[in-house]
Amino acid sequence: MKYAILGAACLMACSSHALAASATRAGFGALSDGSKIEAVTLTNAAGMSAKVITLGAALQALIVPDRGGKKEDVVLGYDTAQEYLTRPNYFGVSVGRFANRIAKGKFSIDGKSYTLSSNDGPNALHGGPKGFDKRVWKIDSVSSGPDAKVVMSYVSADGEEGFPGELKVTATYSLNEQNELRLDYRATTSKPTVLNLTNHSYFNLSGNDARDVMGNMVTLNAARFTPVDATLIPTGERRAVAGTPFDFRKAARVGDRIRDARDQQIRYGRGYDHNFIVDGAPGTLRPAAVVTDPVSGRTMEMRVSAPGIQFYTGNFMDGTFFGKGQRSYRQGDAICLEPGVFPDSPNHADFPSARLNPGQTYLNTMVYKFSAK
Ligand code: BGC
Repeated sequence: MKYAILGAACLMACSSHALAASATRAGFGALSDGSKIEAVTLTNAAGMSAKVITLGAALQALIVPDRGGKKEDVVLGYDTAQEYLTRPNYFGVSVGRFANRIAKGKFSIDGKSYTLSSNDGPNALHGGPKGFDKRVWKIDSVSSGPDAKVVMSYVSADGEEGFPGELKVTATYSLNEQNELRLDYRATTSKPTVLNLTNHSYFNLSGNDARDVMGNMVTLNAARFTPVDATLIPTGERRAVAGTPFDFRKAARVGDRIRDARDQQIRYGRGYDHNFIVDGAPGTLRPAAVVTDPVSGRTMEMRVSAPGIQFYTGNFMDGTFFGKGQRSYRQGDAICLEPGVFPDSPNHADFPSARLNPGQTYLNTMVYKFSAK
């Protein structure tokens, strides 16, 4: 069944200029075990729409006009729900409980040690083999304009994937008429725990042109980043970007320095796969990144509340992944910008804390604003 939910603003004044963003709910097929997946599409009058599916609370499609008004999908993903499980690549998904890596899958809280499964060489990645990206979330509410909004929730049992505490999580996606897609992750816990929730969208602003992102211009408001070892675990250092291929304080072409193997960090990451320390005060929404595709004119400006942002250029995609429309995805076909605490924070006392205690509410907000120039 497909139905539209009209917001109060639209019911009152839809006829003339006051077009409110709308939210529609529809089926998105089923998994091979029979679980039904739903999709909520948020649409505004400016030509943007965002489709979010209940599997992994994932952003499955994001339609953005180019400078000529041509509407195209700017995120990687799959056409069917089951592919998100059988060919996992974290396309657009909500990642939890812990985005990025925890060294050797081990950490401790108040002297008690915990061991997670290692699903990335020696380390635990993105919450383990069955993280939040592979869970079916519930739709809590769907509402229309002025911001079209969907709230999805997931309750993670105490001990799930090795993490302590029952964790109640919501992901709220909203789209307004200023072409801003906002995402808020909230969580509460029954026991002290660690978490790092983020969204793992793979952006390719060229849309259906399917050019790689090497010609994209990127700005990162970060004077420092956290270098990693050969298994992509931070060494603990906070290194100045000045004079390195990691200096994106002024807009730079992604491809210009991505092959500069004189820098050991480029070798370890096979390109960019690093956490940048976002300038300014964590907890306040502040500009973190700008990505521009000069050909289509599409620009994405990102504001984040998190202390860090992982900049990843799809380095592990090798042409064996086939996404929407049977398109083959290759290295450098997308840009991921994943706001959160720093990787492996639970094992670095001087990194921003990943700890959440009972009675506290975790919040990680990211706003993606689109335009075409
Ligand atoms: C990590 C990459 C990893 C990718 C998986 C990123 O967040 O930094 O190293 O391969 O996720 O999709």
